[in-house]
Amino acid sequence: MGEKLETMIVEGGHRLEGEVQISGSKNAALPILAAALLTNEQCVIEHVPFLSDIVEMLAILRCLGCEAEHRSDGSVVVQAKDEKPITAPYELVRKMRASICVLGPLLARRKRAKISMPGGCVIGVRPIDLHLKGMAALGASLDIEHGYIHAEALELKGCEMFLGGAFGSTVLGTGNVMMAATLAKGTTVIENAACEPEVQDLAMFLNTMGAKISGAGTHRIVIEGVEELHGAKHRVIPDRIEAGTFMAAAALSDGDIIIKDARLDHLMAVLDKLSEIGVRVKRLAPENGLERVRIIAAKNYKACDLITLPFPGFPTDLQAQFATILCLVPGISLITEKIYPDRFMHVAELNRLGANIRKESSTIIVQGVDFLSGAPVMATDLRASAALVLAGLVARGETTIEQIYHLDRGYDRIDDKLRALGAQIRRA
Ligand code: EPU
Repeated sequence: MGEKLETMIVEGGHRLEGEVQISGSKNAALPILAAALLTNEQCVIEHVPFLSDIVEMLAILRCLGCEAEHRSDGSVVVQAKDEKPITAPYELVRKMRASICVLGPLLARRKRAKISMPGGCVIGVRPIDLHLKGMAALGASLDIEHGYIHAEALELKGCEMFLGGAFGSTVLGTGNVMMAATLAKGTTVIENAACEPEVQDLAMFLNTMGAKISGAGTHRIVIEGVEELHGAKHRVIPDRIEAGTFMAAAALSDGDIIIKDARLDHLMAVLDKLSEIGVRVKRLAPENGLERVRIIAAKNYKACDLITLPFPGFPTDLQAQFATILCLVPGISLITEKIYPDRFMHVAELNRLGANIRKESSTIIVQGVDFLSGAPVMATDLRASAALVLAGLVARGETTIEQIYHLDRGYDRIDDKLRALGAQIRRA
């Protein structure tokens, strides 16, 4: 996994062809790992990707008294051995915001939690008010002091709540409250719940642990509290964002790639947008039970407008990668962010490669150019880094991407997978 100073060097102009296997979903695996805190029995989570964010989450679980091992077959075996620790310290939380999702499990099982407030990050301010609102509704008392959330509840009580803010529903917030409510007394109803597949996957794991959750995947989730949860085994869903990133790679590189083990029902908005641009999308028969789709580049693409929205809309986590595609499509495309209005750190870097993008509040105006030309660029966050790697695949000459540790947070050996498809890419 990448050191902080590592760079990625991509030589543009190589056509990508072949098959790529999609790894387990980062954003499903992270809260599912946190859910193991809800029992002192052993949990086995399969298909967990090898990412630095997962390493950080396991470090937090160990700090909270768990034994946790990520085996070479991708499964994580985790068990809470000492249930006294309640603190998630700043050093760990600041490295990964998703660590906030230990709050719900700790409150429910250990009655108390002390969690460092996650800060903002380059994609925006990212408040956690909705997480706290949900916990308060369940009866927790919450204080923020010296950068830490102190939460306490001798007994959580089920209730009806509306979990929404200025930007709609919250994915991790829904998961956090859902986890807390599994052990609350009585029934909890979360209105305006996030419908993302990652929330559904978490609910499925919790139900395997003995929880009684219905409605996950809709805007109304009902959780009937139970006395106790037990150990369970679960296989994490494939990563829809990794799948979408490889689809973009095929579209950009004049490629022809078979994406293996992507859940196409999780990618409808993405496949629809690819078709609208003119990319050929062919569903293939499943192989060994795994869904497959073939993405074939075409010669002439059409400009289009794209708006990021909560699921099943187009995901914000693929906005930067699709911006890279649209940079090279003749005409003007508009991309509007409805989830993180400031998530445009990739724009200045893409412009360094010759793109013509202008930002107007939460919209970017992309004027297609004939070609990009390689240059040194700086990775600023996970998805922006992916967008720059994609740009490097088609840019003339060499693109050097600095600070690629961001990529290792969320892409399981992306360079190895791209190289296997024919890309010229190396770390230095
Ligand atoms: N929001 C609030 N208050 C809250 C929580 C969220 O106002 O208490 C706002 C956010 O600022 C944002 C919107 O609500 O404007 C949606 O945020 P959400 O809570 O849904 O995001 P998240 O759960 O913190 C997860 C993913 C993100 C992904 C978003 C949106 C994980 C670990 N992270 O974040 O993934 O962009 O959902 O789908 O699941 C990534 O993987 O690169 C990434 C950033």
